[in-house]
Amino acid sequence: MDVRATWATRIGFILAAVGSAVGLGNIWRFPFLTGESGGAAFLVVYLALVLLIGIPVLLVEFVIGRRSNRNPIGAFTELNHSQWKIAGAVGALAGFIILSYYSVVGGWVIQYLIAGLSGGYSAGGDAEVFFVETASGTGAIAFHALFMALVAGIVALGVRNGLERAATVMVPSVIILLVGLAIYGSTLSGATEAYQYYLYPDTSTLLADAVEVLPAAAGQAFFTLSLGMGVMVTYASYIGEDRNLLSDTGLIVGIDTAIAILAGLVVFPFLFTQGITPGDGGAGAIFISLAGAFAELPAGNLIGAVFFFMLLLAALSSAFSIFEVVVSFVVDRFDIERAPASIGLAVVIFVLGIPTALDLNYLDAYDLFANNILLILGGLLMSLFIGWVYASDAREEIQKGRSASWFGGFWLATVRYFVPPVLLITLALAVIEYYEFLQSTFF
Ligand code: PHE
Repeated sequence: MDVRATWATRIGFILAAVGSAVGLGNIWRFPFLTGESGGAAFLVVYLALVLLIGIPVLLVEFVIGRRSNRNPIGAFTELNHSQWKIAGAVGALAGFIILSYYSVVGGWVIQYLIAGLSGGYSAGGDAEVFFVETASGTGAIAFHALFMALVAGIVALGVRNGLERAATVMVPSVIILLVGLAIYGSTLSGATEAYQYYLYPDTSTLLADAVEVLPAAAGQAFFTLSLGMGVMVTYASYIGEDRNLLSDTGLIVGIDTAIAILAGLVVFPFLFTQGITPGDGGAGAIFISLAGAFAELPAGNLIGAVFFFMLLLAALSSAFSIFEVVVSFVVDRFDIERAPASIGLAVVIFVLGIPTALDLNYLDAYDLFANNILLILGGLLMSLFIGWVYASDAREEIQKGRSASWFGGFWLATVRYFVPPVLLITLALAVIEYYEFLQSTFF
Protein backbone atom coordinates (compact mmCIF):
# COMPACT_ATOMS: atom_id res chain seq x y z
CA MET A 1 0.00 0.00 0.00
CA ASP A 2 1.39 3.35 -0.89
CA VAL A 3 1.48 6.04 1.68
CA ARG A 4 -0.74 8.89 0.68
CA ALA A 5 -0.62 12.44 1.72
CA THR A 6 -3.66 13.44 3.72
CA TRP A 7 -5.32 16.83 3.53
CA ALA A 8 -3.18 19.17 5.50
CA THR A 9 -6.21 20.67 7.08
CA ARG A 10 -9.79 19.72 7.47
CA ILE A 11 -10.67 22.75 5.45
CA GLY A 12 -8.81 21.36 2.41
CA PHE A 13 -11.07 18.35 2.28
CA ILE A 14 -14.22 20.32 2.93
CA LEU A 15 -13.32 22.81 0.22
CA ALA A 16 -12.73 20.14 -2.39
CA ALA A 17 -15.96 18.36 -1.49
CA VAL A 18 -17.98 21.59 -1.41
CA GLY A 19 -16.32 22.70 -4.65
CA SER A 20 -17.55 19.54 -6.29
CA ALA A 21 -21.00 19.61 -4.74
CA VAL A 22 -21.87 23.27 -5.28
CA GLY A 23 -22.29 23.95 -8.96
CA LEU A 24 -24.78 24.12 -11.75
CA GLY A 25 -26.73 21.43 -9.95
CA ASN A 26 -27.77 23.82 -7.20
CA ILE A 27 -28.26 26.97 -9.15
CA TRP A 28 -29.30 25.82 -12.61
CA ARG A 29 -30.72 22.32 -12.27
CA PHE A 30 -32.53 22.52 -8.95
CA PRO A 31 -34.85 25.45 -9.76
CA PHE A 32 -35.37 24.16 -13.27
CA LEU A 33 -36.50 20.74 -12.07
CA THR A 34 -38.59 22.17 -9.27
CA GLY A 35 -40.38 24.29 -11.84
CA GLU A 36 -40.95 21.37 -14.16
CA SER A 37 -42.10 19.11 -11.35
CA GLY A 38 -44.76 21.37 -9.93
CA GLY A 39 -43.01 23.21 -7.11
CA ALA A 40 -43.36 22.53 -3.41
CA ALA A 41 -44.01 18.78 -3.54
CA PHE A 42 -40.72 18.38 -5.35
CA LEU A 43 -38.94 20.49 -2.74
CA VAL A 44 -40.33 18.34 0.07
CA VAL A 45 -39.36 15.05 -1.56
CA TYR A 46 -35.94 16.38 -2.52
CA LEU A 47 -35.21 17.52 1.04
CA ALA A 48 -36.40 14.22 2.48
CA LEU A 49 -34.16 12.32 0.08
CA VAL A 50 -31.13 14.46 0.84
CA LEU A 51 -31.60 13.73 4.52
CA LEU A 52 -32.60 10.08 4.43
CA ILE A 53 -30.66 8.82 1.41
CA GLY A 54 -28.09 11.48 0.47
CA ILE A 55 -26.39 11.61 3.87
CA PRO A 56 -26.08 7.82 4.31
CA VAL A 57 -24.81 7.38 0.74
CA LEU A 58 -22.31 10.22 1.12
CA LEU A 59 -20.99 8.37 4.16
CA VAL A 60 -20.87 5.15 2.14
CA GLU A 61 -18.58 6.87 -0.37
CA PHE A 62 -16.48 8.42 2.38
CA VAL A 63 -16.03 5.06 4.06
CA ILE A 64 -15.04 3.30 0.82
CA GLY A 65 -12.54 6.06 0.05
CA ARG A 66 -10.95 6.36 3.46
CA ARG A 67 -10.79 2.61 3.99
CA SER A 68 -9.18 1.88 0.64
CA ASN A 69 -7.09 5.02 0.14
CA ARG A 70 -8.02 4.73 -3.51
CA ASN A 71 -10.17 6.28 -6.17
CA PRO A 72 -13.34 4.34 -7.06
CA ILE A 73 -11.56 2.41 -9.77
CA GLY A 74 -8.95 0.95 -7.48
CA ALA A 75 -10.95 0.95 -4.26
CA PHE A 76 -12.80 -2.32 -4.62
CA THR A 77 -9.68 -4.23 -5.61
CA GLU A 78 -7.85 -2.75 -2.65
CA LEU A 79 -10.64 -3.95 -0.39
CA ASN A 80 -10.37 -7.43 -1.98
CA HIS A 81 -13.71 -7.31 -3.73
CA SER A 82 -12.68 -6.53 -7.25
CA GLN A 83 -15.95 -7.71 -8.82
CA TRP A 84 -17.58 -4.58 -7.37
CA LYS A 85 -15.43 -2.52 -9.72
CA ILE A 86 -18.54 -2.44 -11.86
CA ALA A 87 -19.78 0.32 -9.54
CA GLY A 88 -16.76 2.38 -10.56
CA ALA A 89 -17.48 1.71 -14.23
CA VAL A 90 -21.10 2.84 -13.88
CA GLY A 91 -19.85 6.00 -12.24
CA ALA A 92 -17.32 6.67 -14.98
CA LEU A 93 -19.97 6.23 -17.66
CA ALA A 94 -22.25 8.61 -15.78
CA GLY A 95 -19.47 11.17 -15.54
CA PHE A 96 -18.66 10.87 -19.21
CA ILE A 97 -22.26 11.67 -20.17
CA ILE A 98 -22.83 14.30 -17.50
CA LEU A 99 -19.73 16.30 -18.36
CA SER A 100 -20.72 16.43 -22.04
CA TYR A 101 -23.78 18.56 -21.33
CA TYR A 102 -22.54 20.13 -18.09
CA SER A 103 -19.96 21.78 -20.29
CA VAL A 104 -22.66 23.07 -22.63
CA VAL A 105 -24.46 24.70 -19.69
CA GLY A 106 -21.08 25.99 -18.53
CA GLY A 107 -20.83 27.59 -21.97
CA TRP A 108 -24.15 29.36 -21.40
CA VAL A 109 -22.75 30.76 -18.17
CA ILE A 110 -19.75 32.16 -20.02
CA GLN A 111 -22.05 33.77 -22.59
CA TYR A 112 -24.13 35.36 -19.83
CA LEU A 113 -20.98 36.59 -18.14
CA ILE A 114 -19.89 38.24 -21.37
CA ALA A 115 -23.35 39.68 -21.93
CA GLY A 116 -23.19 41.31 -18.50
CA LEU A 117 -19.77 42.78 -19.16
CA SER A 118 -20.73 44.05 -22.57
CA GLY A 119 -23.85 45.69 -21.34
CA GLY A 120 -27.05 43.76 -21.72
CA TYR A 121 -29.05 40.61 -21.41
CA SER A 122 -31.93 41.46 -23.58
CA ALA A 123 -32.53 40.52 -27.17
CA GLY A 124 -34.90 43.35 -27.85
CA GLY A 125 -35.79 43.25 -24.17
CA ASP A 126 -36.92 39.65 -24.17
CA ALA A 127 -35.09 37.41 -21.70
CA GLU A 128 -36.67 34.27 -23.13
CA VAL A 129 -35.56 35.01 -26.66
CA PHE A 130 -32.10 35.83 -25.36
CA PHE A 131 -31.92 32.45 -23.66
CA VAL A 132 -33.04 30.53 -26.73
CA GLU A 133 -30.37 32.29 -28.76
CA THR A 134 -27.75 31.47 -26.16
CA ALA A 135 -28.66 27.86 -25.51
CA SER A 136 -28.56 26.26 -28.93
CA GLY A 137 -26.60 26.73 -32.12
CA THR A 138 -23.07 27.50 -33.19
CA GLY A 139 -22.51 29.97 -30.35
CA ALA A 140 -23.52 27.32 -27.82
CA ILE A 141 -21.13 24.83 -29.43
CA ALA A 142 -18.25 27.33 -29.44
CA PHE A 143 -18.67 28.17 -25.75
CA HIS A 144 -19.09 24.49 -24.91
CA ALA A 145 -15.67 24.00 -26.56
CA LEU A 146 -14.26 26.86 -24.50
CA PHE A 147 -15.60 25.47 -21.22
CA MET A 148 -14.23 22.00 -21.97
CA ALA A 149 -10.88 23.51 -22.92
CA LEU A 150 -10.82 25.39 -19.61
CA VAL A 151 -11.54 22.21 -17.67
CA ALA A 152 -8.87 20.18 -19.46
CA GLY A 153 -6.39 23.06 -19.55
CA ILE A 154 -6.65 23.86 -15.87
CA VAL A 155 -6.31 20.21 -14.94
CA ALA A 156 -3.34 19.78 -17.30
CA LEU A 157 -1.59 22.90 -15.97
CA GLY A 158 -1.98 21.62 -12.45
CA VAL A 159 -3.50 24.85 -11.18
CA ARG A 160 -6.64 23.07 -10.15
CA ASN A 161 -5.83 23.28 -6.45
CA GLY A 162 -5.60 27.03 -6.74
CA LEU A 163 -9.01 27.09 -8.26
CA GLU A 164 -10.41 24.86 -5.60
CA ARG A 165 -9.12 27.28 -3.05
CA ALA A 166 -11.17 29.89 -4.86
CA ALA A 167 -14.14 28.15 -3.25
CA THR A 168 -13.35 30.11 -0.09
CA VAL A 169 -14.35 33.22 -2.02
CA MET A 170 -16.85 31.68 -4.38
CA VAL A 171 -19.15 29.99 -1.89
CA PRO A 172 -19.66 33.00 0.40
CA SER A 173 -20.03 35.28 -2.64
CA VAL A 174 -22.66 33.06 -4.19
CA ILE A 175 -24.55 32.96 -0.91
CA ILE A 176 -24.42 36.73 -0.44
CA LEU A 177 -25.52 37.37 -4.03
CA LEU A 178 -28.37 34.90 -3.76
CA VAL A 179 -29.53 36.30 -0.44
CA GLY A 180 -29.49 39.81 -1.89
CA LEU A 181 -31.41 38.72 -4.95
CA ALA A 182 -33.89 36.75 -2.86
CA ILE A 183 -34.57 39.83 -0.75
CA TYR A 184 -35.06 41.89 -3.87
CA GLY A 185 -37.33 39.13 -5.23
CA SER A 186 -39.46 39.28 -2.11
CA THR A 187 -40.40 42.87 -2.94
CA LEU A 188 -41.71 41.97 -6.39
CA SER A 189 -45.33 41.61 -7.33
CA GLY A 190 -45.08 37.92 -8.12
CA ALA A 191 -43.53 37.01 -4.77
CA THR A 192 -46.63 35.83 -2.91
CA GLU A 193 -47.70 33.57 -5.71
CA ALA A 194 -44.15 32.28 -6.07
CA TYR A 195 -43.80 31.33 -2.41
CA GLN A 196 -47.17 29.64 -2.54
CA TYR A 197 -45.93 27.60 -5.45
CA TYR A 198 -42.47 26.84 -4.13
CA LEU A 199 -42.93 26.45 -0.39
CA TYR A 200 -46.45 25.24 0.32
CA PRO A 201 -47.22 21.78 -0.98
CA ASP A 202 -50.82 20.80 -1.55
CA THR A 203 -51.17 18.29 1.27
CA SER A 204 -54.20 16.62 -0.24
CA THR A 205 -52.19 15.41 -3.24
CA LEU A 206 -48.76 15.25 -1.62
CA LEU A 207 -48.47 11.48 -1.52
CA ALA A 208 -49.42 10.97 -5.14
CA ASP A 209 -47.18 13.87 -6.15
CA ALA A 210 -44.33 12.39 -4.17
CA VAL A 211 -44.43 9.11 -6.09
CA GLU A 212 -44.60 11.05 -9.32
CA VAL A 213 -41.54 13.19 -8.60
CA LEU A 214 -39.50 10.50 -6.84
CA PRO A 215 -37.10 9.65 -9.70
CA ALA A 216 -36.43 13.30 -10.52
CA ALA A 217 -35.95 14.26 -6.87
CA ALA A 218 -33.63 11.33 -6.21
CA GLY A 219 -31.62 12.09 -9.34
CA GLN A 220 -31.31 15.68 -8.19
CA ALA A 221 -30.28 14.70 -4.65
CA PHE A 222 -27.49 12.54 -6.09
CA PHE A 223 -26.43 15.04 -8.71
CA THR A 224 -26.20 18.00 -6.39
CA LEU A 225 -24.24 16.08 -3.76
CA SER A 226 -21.94 14.59 -6.43
CA LEU A 227 -23.02 11.09 -5.42
CA GLY A 228 -23.10 7.83 -7.30
CA MET A 229 -19.98 8.46 -9.34
CA GLY A 230 -17.32 7.95 -6.75
CA VAL A 231 -16.18 11.57 -6.63
CA MET A 232 -16.52 11.52 -2.88
CA VAL A 233 -14.69 8.19 -2.70
CA THR A 234 -11.65 9.87 -4.21
CA TYR A 235 -11.76 12.89 -1.91
CA ALA A 236 -12.19 10.76 1.19
CA SER A 237 -9.18 8.69 0.21
CA TYR A 238 -7.11 11.61 1.42
CA ILE A 239 -8.68 12.19 4.80
CA GLY A 240 -7.05 11.12 7.99
CA GLU A 241 -8.58 8.57 10.33
CA ASP A 242 -8.87 11.08 13.11
CA ARG A 243 -11.56 12.95 11.21
CA ASN A 244 -15.14 12.64 12.23
CA LEU A 245 -16.86 11.81 8.96
CA LEU A 246 -20.29 12.69 10.21
CA SER A 247 -19.61 16.30 11.08
CA ASP A 248 -17.90 16.90 7.74
CA THR A 249 -20.90 15.39 6.01
CA GLY A 250 -23.26 17.69 7.86
CA LEU A 251 -21.33 20.75 6.78
CA ILE A 252 -21.09 19.73 3.12
CA VAL A 253 -24.75 18.78 2.84
CA GLY A 254 -25.83 21.88 4.75
CA ILE A 255 -24.01 24.32 2.46
CA ASP A 256 -25.08 22.52 -0.69
CA THR A 257 -28.74 22.37 0.30
CA ALA A 258 -28.87 25.96 1.50
CA ILE A 259 -27.59 27.20 -1.85
CA ALA A 260 -30.21 25.21 -3.77
CA ILE A 261 -33.06 26.47 -1.58
CA LEU A 262 -31.82 30.03 -2.00
CA ALA A 263 -31.67 29.62 -5.78
CA GLY A 264 -35.35 28.70 -5.73
CA LEU A 265 -36.15 31.73 -3.59
CA VAL A 266 -34.57 33.87 -6.29
CA VAL A 267 -35.88 32.20 -9.41
CA PHE A 268 -39.58 31.82 -8.62
CA PRO A 269 -40.45 35.39 -7.60
CA PHE A 270 -38.65 36.61 -10.72
CA LEU A 271 -40.44 34.16 -13.00
CA PHE A 272 -43.88 34.87 -11.58
CA THR A 273 -43.27 38.59 -11.79
CA GLN A 274 -42.26 38.24 -15.42
CA GLY A 275 -45.45 36.30 -16.04
CA ILE A 276 -43.64 33.08 -16.94
CA THR A 277 -45.18 29.82 -15.74
CA PRO A 278 -42.35 28.05 -13.87
CA GLY A 279 -42.48 24.88 -15.96
CA ASP A 280 -42.24 26.92 -19.16
CA GLY A 281 -38.88 28.31 -18.18
CA GLY A 282 -37.51 24.77 -18.58
CA ALA A 283 -33.76 24.50 -18.63
CA GLY A 284 -33.64 28.26 -19.00
CA ALA A 285 -35.37 29.07 -15.69
CA ILE A 286 -32.39 30.54 -13.88
CA PHE A 287 -31.00 32.30 -16.93
CA ILE A 288 -34.28 33.83 -18.05
CA SER A 289 -35.34 34.92 -14.58
CA LEU A 290 -31.99 36.46 -13.69
CA ALA A 291 -31.43 38.16 -17.00
CA GLY A 292 -34.88 39.71 -16.66
CA ALA A 293 -34.03 40.91 -13.16
CA PHE A 294 -30.57 42.21 -14.04
CA ALA A 295 -32.07 44.20 -16.88
CA GLU A 296 -34.24 46.05 -14.32
CA LEU A 297 -31.79 46.49 -11.46
CA PRO A 298 -29.52 49.50 -11.07
CA ALA A 299 -26.01 48.30 -11.97
CA GLY A 300 -27.73 45.10 -13.07
CA ASN A 301 -25.16 44.29 -15.71
CA LEU A 302 -22.34 44.51 -13.23
CA ILE A 303 -24.16 42.42 -10.62
CA GLY A 304 -24.97 39.99 -13.40
CA ALA A 305 -21.36 39.72 -14.50
CA VAL A 306 -20.21 39.08 -10.93
CA PHE A 307 -22.95 36.52 -10.40
CA PHE A 308 -22.16 34.59 -13.57
CA PHE A 309 -18.45 34.76 -12.85
CA MET A 310 -19.02 33.10 -9.48
CA LEU A 311 -21.31 30.58 -11.11
CA LEU A 312 -18.57 29.84 -13.64
CA LEU A 313 -16.10 29.14 -10.83
CA ALA A 314 -18.64 26.89 -9.17
CA ALA A 315 -19.27 25.05 -12.44
CA LEU A 316 -15.56 24.61 -13.14
CA SER A 317 -14.78 23.20 -9.72
CA SER A 318 -17.60 20.67 -10.14
CA ALA A 319 -16.54 19.83 -13.67
CA PHE A 320 -12.99 18.99 -12.53
CA SER A 321 -14.30 16.44 -10.13
CA ILE A 322 -16.31 14.76 -12.88
CA PHE A 323 -13.43 14.87 -15.34
CA GLU A 324 -11.12 13.35 -12.77
CA VAL A 325 -13.30 10.24 -12.38
CA VAL A 326 -13.53 9.73 -16.14
CA VAL A 327 -9.81 10.26 -16.73
CA SER A 328 -8.81 7.95 -13.88
CA PHE A 329 -11.05 5.25 -15.25
CA VAL A 330 -9.58 5.43 -18.74
CA VAL A 331 -5.99 5.66 -17.48
CA ASP A 332 -6.53 2.62 -15.33
CA ARG A 333 -8.57 0.51 -17.70
CA PHE A 334 -6.68 1.13 -20.91
CA ASP A 335 -3.27 1.83 -19.49
CA ILE A 336 -2.82 5.18 -21.22
CA GLU A 337 -0.76 8.09 -19.89
CA ARG A 338 -2.64 10.77 -18.06
CA ALA A 339 -1.90 13.70 -20.39
CA PRO A 340 -2.98 12.09 -23.69
CA ALA A 341 -5.94 10.49 -21.93
CA SER A 342 -7.07 13.91 -20.68
CA ILE A 343 -6.76 15.57 -24.05
CA GLY A 344 -8.39 12.71 -25.91
CA LEU A 345 -11.26 12.53 -23.46
CA ALA A 346 -11.84 16.27 -23.54
CA VAL A 347 -12.25 16.04 -27.30
CA VAL A 348 -14.55 13.02 -27.14
CA ILE A 349 -16.65 14.61 -24.41
CA PHE A 350 -16.90 17.78 -26.45
CA VAL A 351 -18.15 15.86 -29.48
CA LEU A 352 -20.61 13.87 -27.38
CA GLY A 353 -22.05 17.12 -26.05
CA ILE A 354 -22.67 18.72 -29.46
CA PRO A 355 -26.23 17.37 -29.90
CA THR A 356 -27.18 18.86 -26.52
CA ALA A 357 -25.92 22.24 -27.72
CA LEU A 358 -28.20 22.01 -30.74
CA ASP A 359 -31.41 20.73 -29.22
CA LEU A 360 -32.51 20.90 -25.60
CA ASN A 361 -34.37 17.60 -25.97
CA TYR A 362 -31.01 15.89 -26.23
CA LEU A 363 -29.85 17.68 -23.14
CA ASP A 364 -32.85 16.27 -21.29
CA ALA A 365 -32.22 12.83 -22.73
CA TYR A 366 -28.59 12.76 -21.57
CA ASP A 367 -29.39 14.33 -18.24
CA LEU A 368 -32.26 12.03 -17.31
CA PHE A 369 -30.36 8.91 -18.26
CA ALA A 370 -27.17 9.82 -16.45
CA ASN A 371 -28.76 11.18 -13.28
CA ASN A 372 -32.00 9.38 -12.69
CA ILE A 373 -30.65 6.03 -13.81
CA LEU A 374 -26.85 5.79 -13.72
CA LEU A 375 -26.10 7.81 -10.59
CA ILE A 376 -28.83 6.00 -8.69
CA LEU A 377 -27.49 2.65 -9.91
CA GLY A 378 -23.95 3.62 -8.84
CA GLY A 379 -25.22 4.63 -5.40
CA LEU A 380 -27.26 1.45 -5.10
CA LEU A 381 -24.26 -0.75 -5.90
CA MET A 382 -21.99 1.05 -3.45
CA SER A 383 -24.65 0.86 -0.72
CA LEU A 384 -25.23 -2.85 -1.31
CA PHE A 385 -21.50 -3.41 -1.10
CA ILE A 386 -21.14 -1.56 2.18
CA GLY A 387 -24.37 -2.80 3.74
CA TRP A 388 -24.13 -6.45 2.81
CA VAL A 389 -20.59 -7.35 1.79
CA TYR A 390 -18.31 -5.10 3.75
CA ALA A 391 -20.46 -4.28 6.74
CA SER A 392 -18.28 -5.02 9.73
CA ASP A 393 -15.21 -3.27 8.33
CA ALA A 394 -17.38 -0.36 7.28
CA ARG A 395 -18.74 -0.06 10.79
CA GLU A 396 -15.26 0.00 12.23
CA GLU A 397 -14.22 2.62 9.70
CA ILE A 398 -17.05 5.02 10.36
CA GLN A 399 -16.49 4.78 14.07
CA LYS A 400 -13.00 6.23 13.74
CA GLY A 401 -12.61 9.88 14.55
CA ARG A 402 -14.91 9.78 17.56
CA SER A 403 -18.34 9.35 16.02
CA ALA A 404 -20.89 8.63 18.72
CA SER A 405 -20.92 4.87 19.16
CA TRP A 406 -24.61 4.32 18.41
CA PHE A 407 -24.17 6.08 15.13
CA GLY A 408 -22.24 3.36 13.28
CA GLY A 409 -24.94 0.78 13.89
CA PHE A 410 -27.72 3.16 12.98
CA TRP A 411 -26.01 4.20 9.76
CA LEU A 412 -25.28 0.62 8.77
CA ALA A 413 -28.87 -0.46 9.35
CA THR A 414 -30.01 2.40 7.14
CA VAL A 415 -27.56 1.44 4.42
CA ARG A 416 -28.65 -2.20 4.64
CA TYR A 417 -32.39 -2.07 4.94
CA PHE A 418 -33.59 1.36 3.92
CA VAL A 419 -31.38 2.78 1.18
CA PRO A 420 -31.38 -0.22 -1.23
CA PRO A 421 -35.15 -0.73 -1.44
CA VAL A 422 -35.80 2.99 -1.87
CA LEU A 423 -33.16 3.23 -4.59
CA LEU A 424 -34.48 0.11 -6.32
CA ILE A 425 -38.01 1.50 -6.46
CA THR A 426 -36.64 4.81 -7.66
CA LEU A 427 -34.63 3.10 -10.33
CA ALA A 428 -37.59 1.09 -11.60
CA LEU A 429 -39.74 4.22 -11.78
CA ALA A 430 -36.93 6.11 -13.50
CA VAL A 431 -36.52 3.46 -16.18
CA ILE A 432 -40.25 3.50 -16.95
CA GLU A 433 -40.29 7.27 -16.99
CA TYR A 434 -37.28 7.39 -19.25
CA TYR A 435 -38.85 5.02 -21.72
CA GLU A 436 -41.95 7.20 -21.81
CA PHE A 437 -39.84 10.31 -22.21
CA LEU A 438 -38.00 8.86 -25.20
CA GLN A 439 -41.25 7.70 -26.77
CA SER A 440 -42.95 11.03 -26.45
CA THR A 441 -39.93 13.15 -27.37
CA PHE A 442 -38.26 11.35 -30.21
CA PHE A 443 -40.76 8.94 -31.74
N1 PHE B 1 -22.63 18.35 -7.81
C1 PHE B 1 -22.33 19.05 -9.00
C2 PHE B 1 -23.31 20.22 -9.16
O1 PHE B 1 -24.21 20.34 -8.40
C3 PHE B 1 -22.36 18.18 -10.23
C4 PHE B 1 -21.68 16.86 -10.08
C5 PHE B 1 -22.40 15.70 -10.24
C6 PHE B 1 -20.34 16.79 -9.74
C7 PHE B 1 -21.82 14.46 -10.07
C8 PHE B 1 -19.75 15.56 -9.56
C9 PHE B 1 -20.48 14.41 -9.72
O2 PHE B 1 -23.19 20.99 -10.05
